This record gives sequence, structure tokens and C-alpha cells, in this order.
Amino acid sequence: MTSDHAADLTSETLEARARRHLWLHFTRMSSYQGNDVPVIVRGSGQYVYDTRGKRYLDGLSGLFVSQIGHGRAEVAEAGARQATELAYFPLWSYAHPRAIELAERLAVLAPGDLNRVFFTTSGSEAVESAWKMAKQYFKTIGQPSRFKVLSRDIAYHGTSMGALAITGLPDIKTPFEPLPPGGVRVPNTNFYRAPGFVADDLNAFGRWAADEIERAILREGPDSVAAVYLEPVQNSGGCFPPPPGYFARVREICDRYGVLLVSDEVICAFGRLGYYFGSQRYGYQPDVITFAKGITSGYAPLGGMIVSDRLMEPFGAGPATFLHGVTFAGHPVSAAVALANLDVFEKEDLLGKVRANEGAFRATLEKLTDLSIVGDVRGDGYFYGIEMVKEKATRETFSDEESERLLRGFLSHALYDAGLICRADDRGDPVIQLAPPLTCTQEHFDEMEQILRSVLTEAWKLI
Ligand SMILES: Cc1ncc(COP(=O)(O)O)c(C=O)c1O
Repeated sequence: MTSDHAADLTSETLEARARRHLWLHFTRMSSYQGNDVPVIVRGSGQYVYDTRGKRYLDGLSGLFVSQIGHGRAEVAEAGARQATELAYFPLWSYAHPRAIELAERLAVLAPGDLNRVFFTTSGSEAVESAWKMAKQYFKTIGQPSRFKVLSRDIAYHGTSMGALAITGLPDIKTPFEPLPPGGVRVPNTNFYRAPGFVADDLNAFGRWAADEIERAILREGPDSVAAVYLEPVQNSGGCFPPPPGYFARVREICDRYGVLLVSDEVICAFGRLGYYFGSQRYGYQPDVITFAKGITSGYAPLGGMIVSDRLMEPFGAGPATFLHGVTFAGHPVSAAVALANLDVFEKEDLLGKVRANEGAFRATLEKLTDLSIVGDVRGDGYFYGIEMVKEKATRETFSDEESERLLRGFLSHALYDAGLICRADDRGDPVIQLAPPLTCTQEHFDEMEQILRSVLTEAWKLI
């Protein structure tokens, strides 16, 4: 940068400076050539504010993160206090008090014998760490041929090379091929678009989808499969809750073939579904839970995996060492923030509130089904997807060109302009995703419904 340019900087708007220097994630940067980059400067409760002071309802908790909402001084102060006391120390060979306290607290909250916590800084690192742990675990116990990982079509499990190999979205993988070998896809749990032979029977659909996992294990060779990665509610594609019996059957299949069940709860943990962990809502016992996002409500970055005693056993004896680590994992400030975040959960009974209010949230969103463009409203807890269709009766979806015009050309901007942060997504069929802070109540549900109603009504006129 030249010194003239540096001198100019302060006189430019933040939007212009963002356009010049900032590289936004998963963003078509050319779309901002003639438009302002949205700049969010402040948050308070369920709302965030832009540079002009305009208010937006944060219907996506940032990115499925801000469970307790914005602007909580007590959580920020916990981070500041920790930075003053001990800003940083690694978890390589050493421990520090906040990581110990947080690991212990997570072990108490997690289901069954998930008692060992390995911290990371993000969800992708958590997903990747679980794969590496599974591979090394099987080598250590004398099953070295197990390395493959099954996951669902469309499922997003992160962007680092290993996590991307587990992700089931071809478009975001192709530019980075070849990826690490071993990622195997199984069908998603999209009942709205279930194959004809199970389309009328949710239970049969769930059995079929779970049995597809068994078929994939047999096809690949059971001795080659290390783990199955599943989200409690599958996010990308638009919130697919598990059909009844799905996870019980998957658990049986995993046990039959000695395959690990990894519950990727990067979104679904910490109250999103009204429980600390999504697996608790649906009553299944994973071997590993991966988490990130809501553990700190975004006041600092943190992720990790919680591992069963059984998996830890070979690493706790003799010379075995999990040969993996990350400099900032379990950062003291993030761990202190996570503990303060969990204190808020307890003090305000956020899990109880989600469970009490989720019916009202669902009922409010379901009002939108009177619109021609709304094909399906699905989800659980404070986590919903609204699928848009061209024709409701036949469930016909939009062509790529229509989807581009509808989502990128109109909906994303229109919803933002109307004051709602949410996500218009076409990684599967076109959906709008909602995952608001867990403190939202009826007034916020109504505000979401009203904005969606008016913007979707306009969108329909463009089709
Ligand atoms: C289920 C799931 N796994 C992993 C990730 C990756 O997390 P991160 O973006 O923190 O790397 C995400 C991110 O949204 C996710 O939804």
C-alpha cells in the first residue's frame, strides 16, 4: 500500500475499504463492485446494527453462533478478565484452569461416557480432528485398514481438506480435488423429496435411509470404514430432522460393523434444539461429538470434540500419543468465555425456554405455507428451513437460472433490506434458513414471519 493511499483510508467509508481490501468467505466478490458491502458494527440482544444505525433481526444468530444474543457484558468481561490473568498458554503438554473447568463441565453435560474433550478453534478442525483420531485409534488397536468416512449427500462438515472430503456438496469440493481419499456418500434424510417407494411412510423412509448406511459399509468393505458423520438435524439443504428410529438403527449398524458414530453438532449443540446436545434430543449415543459455534455464542472462537472413554483408552496407556494439535485450541480467553456463556444458559434456563417456545416458533413459520412459493417448513427447536418451490402440488423446484435470479438476484438483498438476517441458500433445493438467538420470543417470531411474508410475496411476482 502506498503512503498516499494509507493517508486516504480514514476519509473513506468502511464499505469502500471493505470492497478494496477484504476478501469475504463464500462470497462472489464481483457482486459488490457496484454495491456496498454490508457492514455490521454493533449488536444488542436479538438485533444487530449497520454503519447507518439500521437495525436487523439476527434470524441466523450470525452463522448459527449467537445463542445468547449480542452485547452481553458479563461474557465479554469474563474474556477480558482471563486475558489479564493469563492471555495465552498452549494445551500442548500443559493445561490451564479454564480449559480444565470447561472440559469437566462438558463431560458432565455430554451423554453417556463422552468424557474426554479435545479442543480446537473451529468446527472444521473439530471434524478433521475426529477423523484423525478415528484413523489413529484403529491403527493403535490393530485395525489399520479402517480409514473411510461415510456422510450424507449435501451435508456440510467444513472446509479444511479433510473436512471437505467428508462434506457432501460437490460444487465446493471440485476446485480443490484431489481431496484426501475415503469420503463416501449416503442418501440424505430429505423426506420432502423421498424416493417414491417410501414417500408416504416416514418410518419406512427412516429405515431405508439408515439401511443405506449399512449397504454402503458392506459395499466399501466393513474393515475399511472408520466412522459415520451425521448431524442431528442436517443443515445444508434446509433442516432435515431425523425420521423416527433413524439414529437407533444407525447406532445398531455402527455397532454391528465396529464403525464409530460421530455426531457433528457444530450447529445442533448448545440449545439450538433445546438440549445441550442434539443427540440428547433424539436419544442416541454417539462415540464422538464435534462442536464449535454456540459453545461461546461467538464472544470468542472455540471448537472441539468430546470422545468416549473407550476411544480414549488406547491413548491413555503406554507410549501412544494422539499426534495432532493446534496452537490456539482451547485458548484461555475462549474457554473463559464458554464458561460464562454456559452460566447464562443455566441462569436463564435457555434450554427450557427453547423447548417451551419452539411450538410457537414452528406455528408462526407454518403460517407462511399459505404462500404459493412455500413448499415446506421443517426443522426442530430454533432451527428451521423453508423450502421454496415453483409449484406446490408437484413440488417442482426452480431451474438453476431461476434459482440464481430468485436467490442471488433478489431474495438475499431483499431480506436484508427488509431488516432480517437469514440465509437464502441453494446448495440443495432453494431454502431460507432460520436459526435465531435462543432468547427470541413471539414478538421476534412474528417479525420474522411478517418480513418473510412480504419479501416472498414479492419474489413470487418475479417468477
Ligand atoms: C455441521 C458443521 N460441521 C462443521 C462446520 C465447520 O465449522 P467452521 O466453519 O467453524 O469451521 C460447520 C459450519 O457451519 C457445520 O455446520
